[in-house]
Amino acid sequence: MIKLVGIAGSLRQGSYNRALLRAASEVMPPDSQLQILSIDEVPLYNADNESELGIPEPVAALKDAIEAAAGVVLVTPEYNGGMPGVLKNAIDWISRPPQDIPRVLRGKPVALMGATPGGFGTAFSQVGWLHVLRTLRMELWVEQGPFYLSRAGDSFDESGLKDADQRDRLRSYLAAFVSQVSG
Ligand code: FNR
Repeated sequence: MIKLVGIAGSLRQGSYNRALLRAASEVMPPDSQLQILSIDEVPLYNADNESELGIPEPVAALKDAIEAAAGVVLVTPEYNGGMPGVLKNAIDWISRPPQDIPRVLRGKPVALMGATPGGFGTAFSQVGWLHVLRTLRMELWVEQGPFYLSRAGDSFDESGLKDADQRDRLRSYLAAFVSQVSG
């Protein structure tokens, strides 16, 4: 059984990116699973709090889950041509303390995707993530190219990712990622 974890970078209940991550968990190939992790309880990073109180419990749980996973699915919104603060904040916490980076993040395969109502599919946000992933020496999976989901309003409804073509695209993208991390 190949186990992935997924993090979506939005706190919004109706988030397209959360819905995309849920859809990803539904279309995983046989003998694999995608556990959805939550960043809802991650506080704003404050080095004073880290010094006084250490790593918050929700962050420690995220670190342990990532360490145990064969790969990470990172689903990023785009805000003002960049990555959303809540997701960057979560990754910043997860990178603490730096001595834990080799255990938790270094060399970890990452499939990066994102959804937006706009026309560019979170391309700018995803470019922003490249440098962060490189700094953390995570292993961005590039074989299938970027996964952009534009015009999200056309593909999602209350039930989630309703667009059959997009679900198929997601299914084959994840099958290739699982094949990579299990190989
Ligand atoms: C946005 N949005 C947005 N979309 C985009 O494609 N490029 C962008 O640069 C921006 N900028 C931006 C800034 C701010 C402050 C907000 C609040 C929103 C729209 C954004 O993609 C949209 O709100 C998504 O629905 C957010 O993702 P979730 O919450 O649906 O996952």
